[in-house]
Amino acid sequence: MKPILPGAPWLVAHRSMLGVNRPYPLTLNGRDYVLWQNTSGEISALSNICPHMQAPLSKGWICQERNTIACPFHALEFDGLGRLFRDGELSRTSFIEPLKLIVDGDFIWTYGGFQPQLPVPDLHQKVANDYDFLGVTAQKSIQSDFLSCLKINYDHNHQNGTHREFFKCKSCRSEFIEKEGIYAKVSQVVEKDDYTPEEIAENPMLGAIPDVMNNFLEYVFPSTQFFCLQSPEVQTYQGHILYPETENRTQTFILLYAKFSDPSLKPVMKDSLLHAASIVVQQDTQCLESLYPRQTPKIHLPNEDIMVYAEALYNNWEGAPVI
Ligand code: FES
Ligand SMILES: [Fe+2]
Repeated sequence: MKPILPGAPWLVAHRSMLGVNRPYPLTLNGRDYVLWQNTSGEISALSNICPHMQAPLSKGWICQERNTIACPFHALEFDGLGRLFRDGELSRTSFIEPLKLIVDGDFIWTYGGFQPQLPVPDLHQKVANDYDFLGVTAQKSIQSDFLSCLKINYDHNHQNGTHREFFKCKSCRSEFIEKEGIYAKVSQVVEKDDYTPEEIAENPMLGAIPDVMNNFLEYVFPSTQFFCLQSPEVQTYQGHILYPETENRTQTFILLYAKFSDPSLKPVMKDSLLHAASIVVQQDTQCLESLYPRQTPKIHLPNEDIMVYAEALYNNWEGAPVI
């Protein structure tokens, strides 16, 4: 496939997603890789193709003592540099190409083997320093191209359709507060209808959402959208992460952070917040997977300048500065 946005930094995992001594498969821009984290927190990444007879290494297992991955087919073992471990020693040469990772705290980034065109953003680390991490949710491979998945995150009109039952929006006004290259901050004022007591009983976090919400979103093209919902009880920083798996598959997951006015609310609301975030992605996925091929829109809505901005960054990628 023709790589999508080559040289962009992709956030491919949060450390908590990897587990320990367990192969973690990853597809990025049409190539398959395997990652694993050892007990000391070191992370290795290789092409997933065994150089013997091309079995997928991610279906194998980790040999803890040597920090190698064993192939599921004939059990050959390779270390994190792709060297073969046989008869008690490592080969001098590498048989498998490692994938270069940039591990920034709990964030695992990669340029997928391309020359970096943009720096790894620092926003994620800032959020992690300021907020409690609640967990990862909504991890899924969406059967849709990257641009469509990107655009829905910059689309401030679809809440009335895609998320109508969940958000009960009556109106939404969004505008840029900052727009600086690949970074944008958008304020969003949403008026919504009341939830019924039954709806709140089923999903307690709904009770914390005020009738008029003053939210904001921070975007770092192309990997990240942080949606920040503010209510008297809780302020959430919900990071929607995307990366292209293939031409028509896109991986997403949410990193959920929050600050509670009263720390005792955290255990009560944590699961509900994670669940709510996963519903939102489920609804987006259903929408994205049902779209017909893209055509030039014949109708326009308010707030679309935000989506137009993202699409322009995507279409003008060739002009991105080399760092
Ligand atoms: S295919 Fe991997 S060891 Fe043979
Ligand atoms: Fe959505």
